[in-house]
Amino acid sequence: MGNREHWGSKIGFVLAASGSAIGLGNIWKFPYITGENGGAAFIFVYLICIVIVGLPVVVAEILMGRTTQRNPVGAFKALSGSKFWTAIGGLGVLAGFIILSFYTVIAGWSLGYVFEALKGGFSQLGTAAQANEHFDSLVGDPTWMIGFYTVFFVFTMAVVFLGVKDGLEKGSKILMPILFIILIILMIKGISLKGSGAGLAFLWKPDWSKITGQSILIALGHAFFTLSLGMGALMTYGSYLSKKTNVPNAAVQIVVLDTVIALMAGIAIFTAVFATGQDPAGGPGLIFNTLTVVFGNMTGGYIFGLLFFVLLSVAALTSSMSLLEVVVAYFVDERGWGRHRAVLVLGTLVYAFGLPSALSFNLMADMTINDLTFFDSVDYLASNILLPFGGFFIAIFVAWIWGLDKALIELKKGAEKFFDNQPYLIKVFKIFLKYISPVMIFIVFLHSVGLLESAYEQIKNYWIIIVLAIVILIIIVSRNRKKK
Ligand code: PFF
Repeated sequence: MGNREHWGSKIGFVLAASGSAIGLGNIWKFPYITGENGGAAFIFVYLICIVIVGLPVVVAEILMGRTTQRNPVGAFKALSGSKFWTAIGGLGVLAGFIILSFYTVIAGWSLGYVFEALKGGFSQLGTAAQANEHFDSLVGDPTWMIGFYTVFFVFTMAVVFLGVKDGLEKGSKILMPILFIILIILMIKGISLKGSGAGLAFLWKPDWSKITGQSILIALGHAFFTLSLGMGALMTYGSYLSKKTNVPNAAVQIVVLDTVIALMAGIAIFTAVFATGQDPAGGPGLIFNTLTVVFGNMTGGYIFGLLFFVLLSVAALTSSMSLLEVVVAYFVDERGWGRHRAVLVLGTLVYAFGLPSALSFNLMADMTINDLTFFDSVDYLASNILLPFGGFFIAIFVAWIWGLDKALIELKKGAEKFFDNQPYLIKVFKIFLKYISPVMIFIVFLHSVGLLESAYEQIKNYWIIIVLAIVILIIIVSRNRKKK
């Protein structure tokens, strides 16, 4: 363990971890789900989810990594010694493998659109329907699809191949400032457009009637995805930290950066969408269909369109690096592989597993199970099942199994002053991690797998039995505690 690589500086870690968090989720998904769910009111709910569920789990993950100096499997094993919990770490590594395989497919589109922008392709797009047709023809072409998927994948492998300091940290230090500068330019351009006020109003003036149980669950699920939680990416990054780093402080910085970037992307996109009279609820096609029309009709659209897709590709790259690192770290720590061998072998395996996802939009589009293509199925499995499942167990593990007392001793290392100044924060952290986060994640999980509605029906029918069972459980637990 002595020769484990470490981050060169705290800022290096914060940039790399924010790079993992900031990705397609912020620039592609957050704006479109905000558009579909009514704008400002949705953002409000999302921010609450980020603070009460996201932040505590970010702290928990980084802490597990830093304490054990291990990948997710090794971290659970070292802290619990139990096979069950080690397997939970294994599910995290599996989730990393699967998410990387389809995430890079969308990242490939974004890289492909950099070339579309360079060719001046958006200037021919007059309407969203034309943009849609153009998009369909591109992703419908397996050569285009696989070509950009491959190039993007090679970039990801190259960075991870170089290691923690020279690859992940250096890469993030170069890419994250580029991302930030491009986003500021795009935001200023958006705000300066005539009619952009309507876009800003859409983002800041809440319409509470739009908030439904469904939109709250979407906000909570997205809080997880956007912070890279539930599969040990931040745990793995945390394992390259020394005990001197102030974890709560770094966690707050990561969460704030991720949130600010999502909001900036929202401003850049909706000001432009409203200024040109496009539909804000364009769904997943908001970027590729709505926004390309905006660029096609805007002065300077060539350069802004180009910048936008470079931004999207950069954001995706710093996230895909972290996904591959989880899988690589497992083989390096637990199986004794060298980093280079792990990157080459596992990178190739994930790449091969991603090919059917890339082909799901063309050659394999008709091969569906339950109406889902291969891409849809792996996306569903990872985002709706493995991530909430992993997040739930991470919160439960730190709060109840490893135990908050032990976790807090670790948390205070490097953050002594932080807690001396704000003692109440520890109490808040405890309550969130012990009760609020697991319960909320569990609800998202039930919703994701479609069980929430039927669970609701059951509760309605059997509520007396359920209340009685809970009361009996509380009595048994409190009696046992007294005996101890
Ligand atoms: N947080 C990334 C995004 O918002 O695009 C996605 C992601 C990256 C999820 C890494 C999970 C992960 F481990």
